[in-house]
Formats: sequence, C-alpha cells, structure tokens
Amino acid sequence: MKRIGVLTSGGDAPGMNAAIRAVVRTGIAMGVETIGIEKGYAGMVNGDFVPLNSRSVGGIARWGGTILQTARCKEFMTQEGFDKALANVTSAGIEGVVVIGGDGSLTGARELHRAGYPVVGVPGSIDNDIKGTDMSIGVDTASNTILEAVDKIKDTASSHSRAFVIEVMGRRSGYLALSAGIAGGAEMVVVPEHATTVEEILDEMKLSLERGKPHFIMVVAEGARPNASEICAAVSASQVAGFEARLTVLGHVQRGGSPSAADRLLATKLGTAAVQALVEGRRGVMMGASCREVFPVPLDYVLESDRPADADLVKLEEIIRL
Ligand code: F6P
Repeated sequence: MKRIGVLTSGGDAPGMNAAIRAVVRTGIAMGVETIGIEKGYAGMVNGDFVPLNSRSVGGIARWGGTILQTARCKEFMTQEGFDKALANVTSAGIEGVVVIGGDGSLTGARELHRAGYPVVGVPGSIDNDIKGTDMSIGVDTASNTILEAVDKIKDTASSHSRAFVIEVMGRRSGYLALSAGIAGGAEMVVVPEHATTVEEILDEMKLSLERGKPHFIMVVAEGARPNASEICAAVSASQVAGFEARLTVLGHVQRGGSPSAADRLLATKLGTAAVQALVEGRRGVMMGASCREVFPVPLDYVLESDRPADADLVKLEEIIRL
C-alpha cells in the first residue's frame, strides 16, 4: 500500500485527533501517504480529501473534537451514495481506510469490507458501548468531565439536603453513569440495560436517608427508563423525607475538552496498530485493547450484538453506595 485514508465519523470523542496523528505518523514510518477524508463518510461520498503530513498533525493530540470533522451520513447508506464513495476513494488512489468512530461508523466500515475494500476500524465513542475492547477512545475524558460535575453537585446537594438527578450520555449504554456513579459516590445509578421502577428509586432514597446521608445523588444514563426528568418529577412529587429534587442534564459538555493522558495513549496505540494491520493485509477488523495488549477483532463480532452492562461494575455500585 502506498496511500491510505483516515476518517472520523459519528459523535466526536476526545482523543480522535491523537488517533489521526498516530495514523499519519505511522504511515510515514511505513512509507505510506495518508489522506484525510473530511466529515466522515460524507467526505467519501463528496470526494472531500486532504493530504496530511507530519506537520499538519503536529500539536493536535491535546485538542478535543476532530480536525477532520465528523458527521452521520445518510447518503452513504444508500446504494448510490455507497457506490459514489467507493468510486471516489478508488480514483484518488486511496487503497484502504482507517475508520475512527462508534458502532454506526464501524457498520459503515463493515459494508466497505464486504464490498472488498480494505478497512480497519478504531473504536471512538464516549459511550463505551463497543464490544471487543475494554475502552473506546474518549470514555476516560468524558468520565472525568462527569466526575467533576458530580463532585460539585454533591457539595450543593449536601448543603441543602436535596436529591439531585444527573443525566449523563449513553443512549444504550450505562457505562458512563456507572463509572461516574461509583467514582463520585452516587447513591444510585440508573442504566438503560436494566429496568428500574420509580418505587425502587423511592425505596432506595428512604434507605439512604436511614443510613444518615444528607443528600441523594442519582446518575441516570440518557437512555434509561424512566428517564432522568421523569425520575426527578416523581421524586419531587413523592416528597420522601421532604427531599426536594433538582435535575442537571450534562449534555454535550461531556463530548468536548482536551483528552486525558489515558485517551491520548489509547488513541495513539490503536491508530498505530490500525495502520500496521491495514498495511500488513488485515481486513474487516477493529483494533481493540485490553490490559497491555492491542489486537484485531473481527467487525462481525464487534457488531453482532449490543455490549452488555459490565456485571462487575453493577455489583460494585450496589456495594459501594451503602
Ligand atoms: O454516541 C455518542 C453520543 O454521545 C450518545 O451518548 C448521545 O446519545 C449521542 O452521541 C448524541 O449525539 P448527537 O447530539 O451528536 O446526535
């Protein structure tokens, strides 16, 4: 291979820039030129390509977002858009692509692979909902952002003896809620993977009060049912122990900011491994990481089902809230 492409797609995640930098510089080390594809698959469909070199990725590892920009592209999912994208990369001499993104982006990568086009994926999504890797790029930074908010809210919650419902991202995954809930000492965590009722939440509140806690902090993933605002309304209406409830929706603040050291390192390892895999002839895989190992995982495995909630974290949260 003499020329490869790199794109970031779906929701951005802190660390994507460090991954782009790793792709470009590993390419240089292996004698391969890297072309940046702008706005994810939309750039493939529209032929928005930009050559990248060592200097154009200098200093970007500490930036949040993605210098290539990102998008969720519906046109790529049509046969016409897909064919156009494939024709564009082929005529630009781009012999394979590194796709950095979440499950939607990796699904697009698998379609390219199935069409015979060389592709290697890199998991980038703050949700940590991608199978085949312990952590995705962006999760650590987002967890730290949430933790900072939980710590601050706890101060005011204790001062006023209030209940606080903090909504965090995670459409189908409770990982961010669980990790921030455990690290931040929340009294309860509500995740999309497990059903909870308002009654259970109120019972937990009463227990917490009996334990002498001066506040009740709940971290609720956005995909949980009941959702954060329904929980907040129910708690306020119930007047358990006279606790007033307040809702804080953290929103997109969780996706931004300078990536943590852990995210930069993970992104660099995965970006480098992705180029090595692509150039060495691996196809249809995503690079994953666990402990100190980095390895290829077939996209078919990654995408075959949702990643289940981490059972150990769920148990840990139940113990630690006592
Ligand atoms: O997939 C990552 C994520 O941050 C989800 O947790 C969230 O539901 C979604 O993106 C929101 O994305 P957007 O506002 O870009 O549509």
